Amino acid sequence: MDISSILQGGYQHPLSRSWQAKRNITKSMLMYPIFITDDPNAHVEIPSLPGQARWGVNKLEEFIGPLVKKGLKSVILFGVPLTCEKDGSGTPADDPNGPVILAIKRLRALYPELYIACDVCLCEYTSHGHCGVLNDDNTINIEPSVARIAQVALSYAQAGAHCVAPSDMMDGRIKAIKRALIDNGLGNKCTLMSYSAKFASALYGPFRDAAGSAPSFGNRKCYQLPPAAKGLARRAIQRDVVEGADIIMVKPALPYLDIIQDAAVLAPDHPLACYQVSGEYAMVVAGARAGVYDLRTMAFETVESMVRAGCTLILTYFTPQFLDWLDE
Ligand code: PBG
Ligand code: ZN
Repeated sequence: MDISSILQGGYQHPLSRSWQAKRNITKSMLMYPIFITDDPNAHVEIPSLPGQARWGVNKLEEFIGPLVKKGLKSVILFGVPLTCEKDGSGTPADDPNGPVILAIKRLRALYPELYIACDVCLCEYTSHGHCGVLNDDNTINIEPSVARIAQVALSYAQAGAHCVAPSDMMDGRIKAIKRALIDNGLGNKCTLMSYSAKFASALYGPFRDAAGSAPSFGNRKCYQLPPAAKGLARRAIQRDVVEGADIIMVKPALPYLDIIQDAAVLAPDHPLACYQVSGEYAMVVAGARAGVYDLRTMAFETVESMVRAGCTLILTYFTPQFLDWLDE
């Protein structure tokens, strides 16, 4: 055997195996997506997302307190309005008494160290369930869409969000949000995380169940990216860097590791996030329940692949479990 043939000497021990990673997973790399609903006392399990629930503002302490004790560093909030009057421009999105703004304030007061990001989109709040404002022919009306999304982002930042994260995929919204933050004295107080390369994926189904945000007609293919579109993803990432994004995100994660790797090269000076979305989570859980693999082993393998591809931040519903697993 040639000397150069032998690799196994380098990873025969658990510790030497851990040195083979360029970066190891830490608790600070994990951001937990949570659903906040408008019944303040709600705790309603979401059947399509096993282990996840919609929570009311009054239950946040019971929900988040134990996780903060275990080392939870950040959350991203999704509003699930159930009783509001939805309309064409998503008026309830920035209702000062709506679930998101109340939750920002409550979490800031309860856990001053917790980093609070807010998803910014209109689909949970529009009567038609699309992510922007529509023309009469039901196509996206881009200018009012961008203006409205910037207004919602600004409201969340003014309520105290550390980070606003637009997931709508309207062209030009990063520049508009950054401008609104700067013009209102929040340019240095709020991070702008762009869902830059967000694909029109079949993996959002459980989320749309959870958030009640499925479009009432049509689909999102004219704004979310076609799954095969590597070039568009690269252009979107480069555009959002130029428009002022502070963090770039790729979504979903596991089927798009090549895009994550591209983003790490195209935006080497930005933190890079990926979103292990609801369908990815449900798939890993379902596989484990079917006996295909061990849940924990598979969850680690998926997240390690995302870090290996270049991510420094991962949005995942597995966050509570990782807080335990990373202590073991
Ligand atoms: C809303 C939004 C979606 C997700 C995050 N923000 C759904 C969609 O675009 O239809 C998906 C998250 C997940 O599946 O976990 N624009
Ligand atoms: Zn949306």
